[in-house]
Amino acid sequence: MTPIRSPLKFAVIGNPITHSLSPLLHRSVFKQLKLDAEFSKVECVGDELSNLINRLKAGDWNGINVTIPFKRTIIPFLDALNPRAKTIGSVNCVIQDDGFLTGYNTDWYGFSMLLTLNHVKVSRNSFIVLGAGGAAYSIVYALLREGAATVSVVNRTPKNSNRLKEKLSSVQGDSGLDSCQINDLPGLIRDASVIINTTPVGMGDLLNQSIISEKGISSSHTLIDIIYRPLKTEFLKLGEMAGAKIINGMDMFLYQGLASLDIWMKYRISDRVNVNELKKILESQSC
Ligand code: ATR
Repeated sequence: MTPIRSPLKFAVIGNPITHSLSPLLHRSVFKQLKLDAEFSKVECVGDELSNLINRLKAGDWNGINVTIPFKRTIIPFLDALNPRAKTIGSVNCVIQDDGFLTGYNTDWYGFSMLLTLNHVKVSRNSFIVLGAGGAAYSIVYALLREGAATVSVVNRTPKNSNRLKEKLSSVQGDSGLDSCQINDLPGLIRDASVIINTTPVGMGDLLNQSIISEKGISSSHTLIDIIYRPLKTEFLKLGEMAGAKIINGMDMFLYQGLASLDIWMKYRISDRVNVNELKKILESQSC
């Protein structure tokens, strides 16, 4: 194995990427722990993914985070998948060793941490997941693993939510996982305890939009948005107005990042991080 050369180099790739706070997260950790390492943001447009993969294999970076919309499309470019990433079918972290690329999923762990830290009970509860992209795969996996009674996935393109259902139905025997139509939403909302937005609606160009209207939302619901910039999306604002409990994506983002760092450094370096300080830095930039 090639000895690790300093400085270590990491990046996040995606499109859009301007909103990403991954550089701030990782650079703050490097500063806290006095690590000689760099972290950059790389926008990947059109068919540039294979070029970026070649640069990664050539050693431009020791590891990368992968974000929207490449968490699933990157898989065929990788040499190996960690077993859990294979089960989930989505990759948000890649490590490069001597040009060999292995894909991992740390989003599911970030989302599980979000649930725990915000006291969201999973077992025997009913969930609606809005969207069926890479992030939704990780979230559905985490919910099924923790014993959700039902998980109803609703997506603008039913083919994609059907594919998600096919991939993840076997995570929990006799799973209550279903791919539902947008028209089913009123009934689903009536019966659900928790509604989760996994789409980009509410950030970037879609900043002032919410993926659903407030119809049927009440104080009996918890609304989770995995967006962390802004901290309070339109979706969360309408939930708050209706008296629902609201949770933003900051905890998921933070813990997926720390778990990625553990993978890249090959030990639990995150145990040494002052997480409260890190969260304050991130929240101050996220408004
Ligand atoms: P990520 O890796 O963050 O999950 P992704 O794989 O591109 O990103 O998935 C984004 C999800 O948000 C998809 O389910 C997408 O719907 P489609 O499957 O129909 O493409 C959904 N999405 C994106 N933009 C949307 C919009 N404007 N309205 C509704 N859903 C949207």
